[in-house]
Amino acid sequence: MLEDDLAKLKESALAALDAAATPAELEAIRVQTLGKKGDLTQILRGLGHMDEGQRAAFGASANAFKESFANRLAERSDALKQAELNQKLEREWVDITLPGRPRPHGTIHPVTRAQNEIIAIFTAMGFPPASGPEVESDWHNFEALNIPPDHPAREMHDTFYLPPALDGRKRLLRTHTSPVQIRVMEGKQPPLRAIAPGKVFRCDSDLTHTPMFHQVEGFMVDEGVHFGQLKGLLATFLVRFFERELPVRFRPSFFPFTEPSAEVDMGCLFCEGQGCRVCKRTGWLEVLGCGLIHPNVLTNVGIDRERYSGFAFGMGVERLAMLKYGINDIRALFDNDTRFLTRHA
Ligand code: DAH
Repeated sequence: MLEDDLAKLKESALAALDAAATPAELEAIRVQTLGKKGDLTQILRGLGHMDEGQRAAFGASANAFKESFANRLAERSDALKQAELNQKLEREWVDITLPGRPRPHGTIHPVTRAQNEIIAIFTAMGFPPASGPEVESDWHNFEALNIPPDHPAREMHDTFYLPPALDGRKRLLRTHTSPVQIRVMEGKQPPLRAIAPGKVFRCDSDLTHTPMFHQVEGFMVDEGVHFGQLKGLLATFLVRFFERELPVRFRPSFFPFTEPSAEVDMGCLFCEGQGCRVCKRTGWLEVLGCGLIHPNVLTNVGIDRERYSGFAFGMGVERLAMLKYGINDIRALFDNDTRFLTRHA
């Protein structure tokens, strides 16, 4: 009997709707029940064998079934959608009372930071900042500093030479910041003092050298300037820069633009003078070059060498930054690893 088939279909289809767990399952049941090739179509095929009265009655029951199926389907579909939404809300729940996660802030590169600290210490001691060009003349970089064309000291500088200027003057990338001494002194008379930070360039690259690095130059010229003042100034600088008491020693050395010349060593920060890899087991770290300005240099800039004397010093900023912040490969400073530039608030 068709009526029985319909009753069975109604029972099983509604039960299936109740049991479905997802919208996709509901859809599958709808197709299976009401689709063109579905169960109801199958039953309605038998309609042809009925007389008209039966057919009208059966059609009404079939429509009633369709309606109750559609109602149940809508109910179940709403319920499943609601359940899905609830699950999603549960999953994506955000505790807005938690503290915010701050974005990392940029910060100053260690080389710039060390340079700024060096400048701050010397300006506080009366040395105003000065600067000069990175593309420099041979005169300023070498000759005026008592390094004539054939002087062997030129070889140590691994100079990047540039094509000559339009007026034929020789040009190069400065190999040190000492030429700023010349630029500050030219055309002026003592008392003179300055601190000159900047980039310098040498054709050299390995574990401890990069073709561009930073130096800070300092000098002072006046009547009666002597080595004792230089010694006191640099010892004070090192204690302030490294923020601790340190032994400091001056070793005789040679620079063409100073006489006498010295190299300054400080007690190794890492082994307290015991001897370690950083200080090559000597207990000392070489950190500065210095000396009394050579009288020829004073003459070259028109300052009376009989009346005046001066001292000068120069230091590598990367080296000081590496020692202060414990960085052991100079190239790390130029790799652009953003961890060097990140500070978490
Ligand atoms: N210009 C030297 C260099 O680059 C460093 C230096 C040494 C500068 C002694 C000075 C000094 O002013 O007196 O190696």
